[in-house]
Amino acid sequence: MAVDPLIELRDVNKYFGDLHVLQDVNLTVGRGEVVVVIGPSGSGKSTLCRAINRLEPIQSGSITLDGQPLPEEGKALAGLRSEVGMVFQSFNLFAHRTVLQNITLGQVKVRKRKKDEADRRSRELLDRVGLADQADKFPAQLSGGQQQRVAIARALAMDPKALLFDEPTSALDPEMINEVLEVMQQLAQEGMTMVVVTHEMGFARSAANRVVFMADGRIVEDRTPEEFFTSPRSDRAKDFLSKILKH
Ligand SMILES: Nc1ncnc2c1ncn2[C@@H]1O[C@H](COP(=O)(O)OP(=O)(O)OP(=O)(O)O)[C@@H](O)[C@H]1O
Ligand SMILES: [Mg+2]
Repeated sequence: MAVDPLIELRDVNKYFGDLHVLQDVNLTVGRGEVVVVIGPSGSGKSTLCRAINRLEPIQSGSITLDGQPLPEEGKALAGLRSEVGMVFQSFNLFAHRTVLQNITLGQVKVRKRKKDEADRRSRELLDRVGLADQADKFPAQLSGGQQQRVAIARALAMDPKALLFDEPTSALDPEMINEVLEVMQQLAQEGMTMVVVTHEMGFARSAANRVVFMADGRIVEDRTPEEFFTSPRSDRAKDFLSKILKH
């Protein structure tokens, strides 16, 4: 597929000590594309996400965002983190700040918005994720699904070029998974560029442009969901799918 590349990884290698966790990884994510990353535990999915917003440095190869190499430190790095938002399994909200403050803070500090303007934008985003009436609560007063939607609103408040999700629904009770997936589905439809590590195969089938299957630090398959789910090529993918689709 001809795409306008937003995120590009070329021959990326990453080690933890002797452990080679990303092995010659090549991946292009086009603007507006949704790429779902799946694979067995320890295959490098989180490390891949963390490398894209430079929470993890790499040892060789290159990663570019919008044609620019990732900045290494300082202000430029903080800028990158706001341009490539990340949503984690564990929400990571500031516990001693209200929901509204959680979403406003980065806008004021990093994006240099005035507080009332930032608050207005925060309320807009809360409305969008279905939490308009929760602005003054603290994170602990919300359900997991609500907290995760706040985390998504907080990432969106920075007007990111792309969003990375690392198992955003894995810590949630089953009845809360859908409310988060629906917000993500909506973002996908609106054209947000997204890299999503998830075991939610329904989401992969309905929202992803491509499925990337990783095993042992390598990208083993990179195909449309339709192709991947109906005729996986590699034994690793076949084996993985037979295990997860049994549940
Ligand atoms: N900070 C670290 N120090 C040392 N080794 C690490 C570190 N983080 C991850 N690893 C190792 O790197 C490999 C890849 O880990 P990673 O977390 O990227 O896998 P994953 O595919 O996200 O797995 P899971 O599905 O369990 O989340 C694993 O072998 C892991 O133990
Ligand atoms: Mg992981």
